[in-house]
Amino acid sequence: MQVLGIESSCDETAAAVYCTKSGLLGHQIYSQVALHDAYGGVVPELASRDHVRKLMPLVRAAIGQSGLSLEQLDGIAYTAGPGLAGALLVGAMGARALAFSAGLDALGVNHLEGHVLAPLLETPAPAFPYLCLLVSGGHSELVAVRGLGEYELLGGTLDDAAGEAFDKTAKLLGLSYPGGAALSALAEHGDASAFKFPRPMTDRPGLQMSFSGLKTAAITQFKAVGGDRKADIAASFQMALVDTLIIKVKRALKQTGLKRVVVAGGVGANKSLREALKDLAGELGGECFYPRSEFCTDNAAMIALVGALRMDAGQRSEDLTAGVLPRWPLDQLQPPELSVSSRN
Ligand code: KG4
Ligand code: ZN
Repeated sequence: MQVLGIESSCDETAAAVYCTKSGLLGHQIYSQVALHDAYGGVVPELASRDHVRKLMPLVRAAIGQSGLSLEQLDGIAYTAGPGLAGALLVGAMGARALAFSAGLDALGVNHLEGHVLAPLLETPAPAFPYLCLLVSGGHSELVAVRGLGEYELLGGTLDDAAGEAFDKTAKLLGLSYPGGAALSALAEHGDASAFKFPRPMTDRPGLQMSFSGLKTAAITQFKAVGGDRKADIAASFQMALVDTLIIKVKRALKQTGLKRVVVAGGVGANKSLREALKDLAGELGGECFYPRSEFCTDNAAMIALVGALRMDAGQRSEDLTAGVLPRWPLDQLQPPELSVSSRN
């Protein structure tokens, strides 16, 4: 099964070709970060317009890189949600039109499913079942991944997502958007024990998370001590956030009895988090997996992968509508054979 994947849910335009036998054959990505930088966040209308400009050249490049022709593909998968409605529609329409012109099937897939299965792009890939810590700009979730389409949401954030807390704190420290990676780089020069920030919701049982109080604590401290302690604030904030995630992951592993843990989503690129997870897996005698950074942040390789796995299991779209779902929680998904769009 050779599938073209298209991603356009937020501020990255991407196209990739994935083959169930040979793996990833082509992979192209364009980030709109510079476009939105001046506004301190993603401007939806600008994002949609830029997707229109970039999508087809990237599709052509990814197919070219794969060595296949459009006709040799078995189908096209596109992100149908969650994400910005206008941005999603660009990818959905592009994918549907291209598929129709080439007589291929097109399948709308869930962006979050892409993130939780992204570790399968790597060798060795984790076997099912595993615990996924999904931490991105819009999501912070602990998910038990038992198989394709079998996701149990164990806990999530009550307010800010982990990436959002990174970005908002980074913005205050004067770093450009999105600030997660920049804050992390600044933290390397700081003392993580300089300030004792809260580890939110770790003093009570359960797997729910909350990061807005931690963000506020960092911001309040910054206002009190001033600009020359920026690196110390960054390091202490990062340590508090990572500690909090690790405490929750440890609880989730104990609660579910799962032995493998994977990290996915943009914050999964964070070095301290990766190191702490590795240590935790070592301590518990388990295994820890993470996709390389470019597969942690938004990409089309994960969308092509999900499309290929689902199409390989027989799932097809029932009609030609290109509806998108700006809200589409992971636990609404089903295995291919039970999915509404299945022809089986
Ligand atoms: O998954 P992603 O590319 O987009 C979605 O939100 O779906 O994640 C982007 C988020 C941003 O909040 C960004 O600041 C954060 O991931 N991020 C990081 C790092 N690299 C990206 N956060 C902490 N440390 C990093 N190295
Ligand atoms: Zn994402």
